[in-house]
Amino acid sequence: MSHRILITGGLGYIGSHTAVELIENGHEVIIIDNLSNTRIEVLDGIEKITGVRPVFYQTDMRDKAAVKNFFDKEKVDGVIHFSAFKAVGESVHKPLAYYENNLSALIILLQELTQRGIHAFIFSSSCTVYGQADELPITEKAPVKPAESPYGYTKQVGEIIIKDTVRASDLKAIALRYFNPIGAHSSALIGELPLGVPQNLVPFITQTAAGIRHELSVFGNDYPTPDGTAIRDYIHVVDLAKAHIVALERLLTHKNKASYECFNIGTGMGSSVLEIIQTFEKVSGQSLPHKIVDRRPGDVVAAYADTTLANKELGWKAEKTLEEALYSSWKWQQSLR
Ligand code: WQD
Repeated sequence: MSHRILITGGLGYIGSHTAVELIENGHEVIIIDNLSNTRIEVLDGIEKITGVRPVFYQTDMRDKAAVKNFFDKEKVDGVIHFSAFKAVGESVHKPLAYYENNLSALIILLQELTQRGIHAFIFSSSCTVYGQADELPITEKAPVKPAESPYGYTKQVGEIIIKDTVRASDLKAIALRYFNPIGAHSSALIGELPLGVPQNLVPFITQTAAGIRHELSVFGNDYPTPDGTAIRDYIHVVDLAKAHIVALERLLTHKNKASYECFNIGTGMGSSVLEIIQTFEKVSGQSLPHKIVDRRPGDVVAAYADTTLANKELGWKAEKTLEEALYSSWKWQQSLR
């Protein structure tokens, strides 16, 4: 059944891939984005892929009057909330900007949803809520530990705000705790668009391979891991987008088993930085200039997901390989030339 779904931050990296999957699953998509960390051309990419141009509002989610006006005008059955600042390192230097943006936008949105009886809410959370987990792979029962950054705290506090709101209203919510999203749509019409120097590993790799960056710095090779470099769970962004569809439909069809649920969304497989470099070189045919430097403050040694709960309850599982993800990132980078 088709529903009208609002995607906040819908022109961002994960938001735009989720918009494509929603449209391809027969839903109507409305996008709010303030364009602070993306470009309006992403809307053209969504249209080229799907043949549908979503209704678009250039609105800042912190603008209470504008958000109220949106809901006065647009009927919405469910919301997927991506709008947030998301650079771990940047958040350490700009904590107030992160708390103000990420939390006030969430609060304003939840006020509107609860006042208007809109029940289905999907929250973009993060594996950073676990900090350095004591056990690997990480399950949803792992304790939420002190975050390594203000960004991580905005996700932890965001989940608490949602849980308290669910208890005090008819809202039903699912938090998806992402591991490391990488890759791009196979059309190479949408992908990750880091504005400025990329903070994340894979866009820095593709920009180095494209000659935009001189060489990749590998942040530490003295970790207690097989090759000394840190380990993460790199998931194809299209697999991640598909997880949002099944989570949303779980709420829209009232199959949720609690008013608030959270799921780890990853592949369940850990890869080290050096393994990512080697795999990229294999799929792209490019050798990657890189050097070992000091560890980056705030990095955890290893994080990869136990996805049993999402597999069982959502019937969702990551399907794309690391090779496909890295190859799609490279194709996307080449399309930007
Ligand atoms: C990955 C690995 C770095 C850059 C991200 C998001 C966060 C969350 C989890 C969604 C680390 C190393 C990186 C570089 C390097 N996702 N690295 N050289 O820190 O795991 O967090 O995924 O919420 O929002 O930021 O991802 O890509 O920055 O780092 O060696 O130039 O690559 O040390 O081991 P991270 P990342």
